[in-house]
Amino acid sequence: MEKVSLGAENKFCPQTLFLYGTYKEDGSPNFGLFCWFSYCFDGELGVMACIGGEKLTKDRIRETKVFSANLVSESMLPLADYLGNTDGYKAGKMDIPIETERGAVLDVPVLKDSPWVFELEVKQSILLDDSEVLLCKIRNTLVAKELKDSSISVEERMRMAAPVTWIGEGHYFSLNYRSLGRTGDWKDSFHSA
Ligand SMILES: Cc1cc2nc3c(=O)[nH]c(=O)nc-3n(C[C@H](O)[C@H](O)[C@H](O)COP(=O)(O)O)c2cc1C
Repeated sequence: MEKVSLGAENKFCPQTLFLYGTYKEDGSPNFGLFCWFSYCFDGELGVMACIGGEKLTKDRIRETKVFSANLVSESMLPLADYLGNTDGYKAGKMDIPIETERGAVLDVPVLKDSPWVFELEVKQSILLDDSEVLLCKIRNTLVAKELKDSSISVEERMRMAAPVTWIGEGHYFSLNYRSLGRTGDWKDSFHSA
């Protein structure tokens, strides 16, 4: 495969999208769209998230130390795109039809339509020049019941969750919901006995 060298770029490396929910000072919910989201381990599964620049979501997380991360399903994409392209400092951002409820464990707003929601508490934050990395404890995971129903095939459950990925290049992508195999299927394939 012939390759070209680029600067720091991650296009074509899909990033799963989440909407982060926080309560504003007046108790009403705010949501922003985020893709710099991954996992870490410290005795149990945790989350690491990076928030760049100054934005309302960051202010509210700094203040409350908690937020929700709501997986974006394909049906939620128009809402997610709006929330990712509208500044929370702008009055009226959240004057839209949006169904939320309070988290089961933390005081965070949760999107009713999201099939997989983390309730997160910030345990540590690392300040970088233009962003902040948050290391979070998962205090609860709220999951659509069907996704835990193992009588439904994993492919069908992926189709139900329908996570949206973002690849830079200004494009959102769907997954194709076709399993490529199971973990370990190829583990003995490269050495003969
Ligand atoms: C596809 C997409 C992904 C984004 N991912 C991030 C991210 O990972 N980190 C970040 O700081 N901002 C990210 N943003 C920008 C925020 O969504 C944007 O600043 C938004 O206004 C945040 O909401 P708020 O202003 O209500 O806090 C992303 C935007 C889009 C459209």
